[in-house]
Amino acid sequence: MSKTVLVPGGAGYIGSHVTVELIQAGYDVVIADNMSNCDETNYRGVCAIVGRELPLYKADFCDPEAVRKVFAENRIDAVIHFAAFKAVGESVEDPLKYYGNNLQSFVNLLEAARAQGGCNVLFSSSATVYGEPESMPVTEQSPRQVATSPYGNTKQICEDILSDCVRAYPGIRGIALRYFNPVGAHPSALIGELPRGVPNNLVPFITQTAIGKREVLRIFGNDYPTPDGTCLRDFIDIVDLAKAHVCAVRRMLDDQMKAPYEIFNIGTGTPVSVRELVDTFERVNGVKLNWVYAPRREGDVTAIWADPSLAWRELGWKAERKLDDTLASAWAWEKHLAEKE
Ligand code: UD1
Repeated sequence: MSKTVLVPGGAGYIGSHVTVELIQAGYDVVIADNMSNCDETNYRGVCAIVGRELPLYKADFCDPEAVRKVFAENRIDAVIHFAAFKAVGESVEDPLKYYGNNLQSFVNLLEAARAQGGCNVLFSSSATVYGEPESMPVTEQSPRQVATSPYGNTKQICEDILSDCVRAYPGIRGIALRYFNPVGAHPSALIGELPRGVPNNLVPFITQTAIGKREVLRIFGNDYPTPDGTCLRDFIDIVDLAKAHVCAVRRMLDDQMKAPYEIFNIGTGTPVSVRELVDTFERVNGVKLNWVYAPRREGDVTAIWADPSLAWRELGWKAERKLDDTLASAWAWEKHLAEKE
């Protein structure tokens, strides 16, 4: 009998790509989403890619009753928690929105998991927990730094909540995946990133500038101590990232874990500068971007990239898609959205 994975936040950017990979790997998926930060575009896209309607609970996991209902109506073997807010700047302006939502929904989920006698829980964490690292690349042993935003703090706290619950409640096992910078879209161009309002992240800002929705892309800072003066990041393709979740779920369900709580970096291991990314986007897609250098953005770290070797050794996962293809997919997705409008 196939196993069922619950995906709260499954109608969002990462959740939708993970759902597709899970279905294609033979798992059943139950999506739950309060649709607070997305419409049904990605959900519809997922159903089109996999060729069937998937169960969707329009449920807010901050409501414990809503979580209990999903667990009562389904036999959940594993859960991947994506139901969280993710805008760094907004979290500084409205911390309670972030602490309230991101922590409460996770606690409710773990309560329900404990009540059913246990569950495999995968938490979507972030490289933000490493802050400004002292040495590169960062391994899972690199120290976590004091968070510089409530958003980053919720990632650290949720990691701690999971690790405490795993220790306290037999039957709960956990994996945290620390993502570097997820970018790109599914090759079908049917699902992708759908930022609300002005995008904070680099790639959606690039694609929106290319399509004419934004006038000019500002590259924040060209005086960093890096080869071309712009920040260095580890841009991980969204489909590669999604596949890492399938490997992690399989590891939990097949009893392959070496400890009841494990952490893996999910990145390419290759630093790419912001300027390089912009140049690559222009070259691959044959478009000219209107961009300028602008002052540094507060809170940005100079450079961060992953040592992803643990994920390779233990999960059998590594990034495969070429940056050129990733950036072509991001552009195809933006054009797909423009055609729909
Ligand atoms: C941020 C979060 C990270 C989260 C990621 C994806 C922090 C410190 N970072 O990463 O946790 O996982 O978003 O949601 O919490 N840039 C420009 N112009 C723009 C936009 C960005 O030059 O218009 C530059 C930034 O200065 C940065 C790089 O592009 O150097 C990447 O920025 P962004 O996509 O926002 O991701 P991060 O800040 O690295």
